Amino acid sequence: MISIDRARPVEESTEAQAAEELRRLAREIAEYDRRYHRDAAPSVDDAVYDALRRRNAALEERFPHLKRADSPSERVGWAPTDGFAKVRHRKPMLSLGNAFGERDVAEFLARVRRFLGLSEAEEVAVVAEPKIDGLSLSLRYEDGKLVQAATRGDGTEGEDITANALTLADIPAVLDDALNDAPGVLEVRGEAFMSRTAFAKLNQARAKAEQPLYVNPRNAASGSLRQLDAGITAARELGFLAYAWGDVSEPLAETHAGVLDRFRSWGVPVNPHYRRCTGVEELLRAYADILARRAALDYDIDGVVYKVDRLDWQERLGRASRAPRWAIAHKFPAEQAETKLERIDIQVGRTGALTPVARLTPVFVGGATVTNATLHNEDEIARKDIRPGDTVVIRRAGDVIPQVVCVIRERRPEASEPYEFPSVCPVCRSAAVRPEGEAVRRCTGGLVCSAQAVERLKHFVGRNAFDIEGLGGKKIEELWTDGIVRSPADVFRLNRHRADLVRRERWGERSTDNLLAVIEARRARPLEKFLFALGIRQVGLATGRLLAHHYGGLAALVEAVTAAQDPESEAYADLIAVDRIGKDVAADLIAFFAEPQNRAVVDDLARCLTPEAPTVAETSSVGGKTVVFTGTLARMTRAEAKARAEALGAKVAGSVSRKTDYVVVGADAGSKAKKAAELGLTLLSEDEWLSLV
Ligand code: IVH
Repeated sequence: MISIDRARPVEESTEAQAAEELRRLAREIAEYDRRYHRDAAPSVDDAVYDALRRRNAALEERFPHLKRADSPSERVGWAPTDGFAKVRHRKPMLSLGNAFGERDVAEFLARVRRFLGLSEAEEVAVVAEPKIDGLSLSLRYEDGKLVQAATRGDGTEGEDITANALTLADIPAVLDDALNDAPGVLEVRGEAFMSRTAFAKLNQARAKAEQPLYVNPRNAASGSLRQLDAGITAARELGFLAYAWGDVSEPLAETHAGVLDRFRSWGVPVNPHYRRCTGVEELLRAYADILARRAALDYDIDGVVYKVDRLDWQERLGRASRAPRWAIAHKFPAEQAETKLERIDIQVGRTGALTPVARLTPVFVGGATVTNATLHNEDEIARKDIRPGDTVVIRRAGDVIPQVVCVIRERRPEASEPYEFPSVCPVCRSAAVRPEGEAVRRCTGGLVCSAQAVERLKHFVGRNAFDIEGLGGKKIEELWTDGIVRSPADVFRLNRHRADLVRRERWGERSTDNLLAVIEARRARPLEKFLFALGIRQVGLATGRLLAHHYGGLAALVEAVTAAQDPESEAYADLIAVDRIGKDVAADLIAFFAEPQNRAVVDDLARCLTPEAPTVAETSSVGGKTVVFTGTLARMTRAEAKARAEALGAKVAGSVSRKTDYVVVGADAGSKAKKAAELGLTLLSEDEWLSLV
């Protein structure tokens, strides 16, 4: 199935011929990539394969506008979607909060002290270490042997890449346990990366072979580890440095620095450039030193990570959602570059918000090629007087969306006019209005605006909502256009279209069946994710969780929120009494369920789910319970107590009422304890509370 039309030189191809040939080439090259990378069974001679890629590149060069979304030149290798087994992390792999300057660092230290309730005299030792820009891995050792290596994935679930990890010289297959002191179970966590030297060498070789280049060392490292053929990974010269741990069968040390020492003693490499500090000044000095060393390092770093050294303190500090309270990443300043702003596009979001996006002449900055930048809103464009055709300065830091810093006025073309923000929706042509005092202009098309409908669907299948992997934005758009998925419940009726789907390009039997299986599994979805998926204004995951705990089930919630339309009703009083649900959020919730179209969507959806779902997700002994802390606690600060209780799904209230489930009484408790006793509530000592949780 070789599709080069040998008889016809590229220069003589008509547009129609080129389009057809590019379509065939995309399909064939993808198939060869799949055979090579996934099945480790090349099905075509290298020279032929290279010729196909060259032909594809030549056609694209002659007809740039015909370049396809699935063009082989945009893809490196083949990203397997189902090639690796999934691994659930026994301890989640967390991310880090960011500090961007001295103030943030001081605030971090102050927060730690406040949380722990430390006296002035007590010092907090903090380790400062380079933040490597690679990808994190979790290596599980049992009885000293590497039994599993996994990528971070979403932090909860990653991919099993054991065979590949074993090809890294920095990852010992067996711990060097001469002293016989390694724990039975040890999960080492750290960063895999590609050195700059190895990266340059790899890209040179790829250029020679006319293969697409990797954008930066991080992508190259990630691509190299996610190869189904471990032989490819082995050839890629990756490094690994450890900086954290997950599941362990016994405590490793008393301090973070102590753990790093033990890692080293077992032959697990750690970054030598770390330093133990106390106080803001010392931390900032460590930061400056690491920054000064940056250029000389042979790997990319994008900041410095500060970690509270004492592990008992780390434990008490715990984490807030996805990031620990005991660590923070102090990022290096963002890189800037100049480029041309070609045009301004307007995107229409799920709520109808019109967001301007700058389309740029591609420029390499901060470790990646940037083609788009956010412009925030119309005031921002006016304030900076940004116009199409301008030369602009853009800034990019880490994974943050690039921003336009300013315009270089001297380079403005003569015929330039100020940019006029549209007053109609570019998609449905409804009026786009901007209420007094608001920054955002919104399309008024509501349910008739296809852009909003498509964005709502994308949100619905997103990770924190119904989490339907394999149904990305492009596929949603395609299914919407073809009229197959127009409302959320249609997703659950996709199985009726299997025959049609498997015939589509980029679907096929295998992906279609995988997708349908994922959809089946989502028929039982926790209520909080269900609520989040509906995209009700101001109802994020946290609010969804509070509502789910309060009402327990969908039917009860719908009934209560409907009854709450009457502000005099008990249902309304009950709704706004839910911790952190103010009148504003209540108004948005009530408005959503008062809209018959929304109710129809919810009812339709509920019929597609298993009858007992959606109900509340995981519960703990105190999940959904209301707790009041009073008096002075001896073993934790108030902030700590509150955070821990909330992490377990409890609600922490400030005052005692009949609805209070537990009152935790510390020393010198006053009127609240008395009132609780009068109401006959359950009183717990601090120790009783701790044993309960
Ligand atoms: S500590 C619970 N230390 O940064 C602590 N992370 O933004 C988790 N990273 O996913 C991470 N160098 O991939 C830590 N010295 C270092 C690091 C580091 C790089 C990465 C890691 C993590 C991400 C968080």
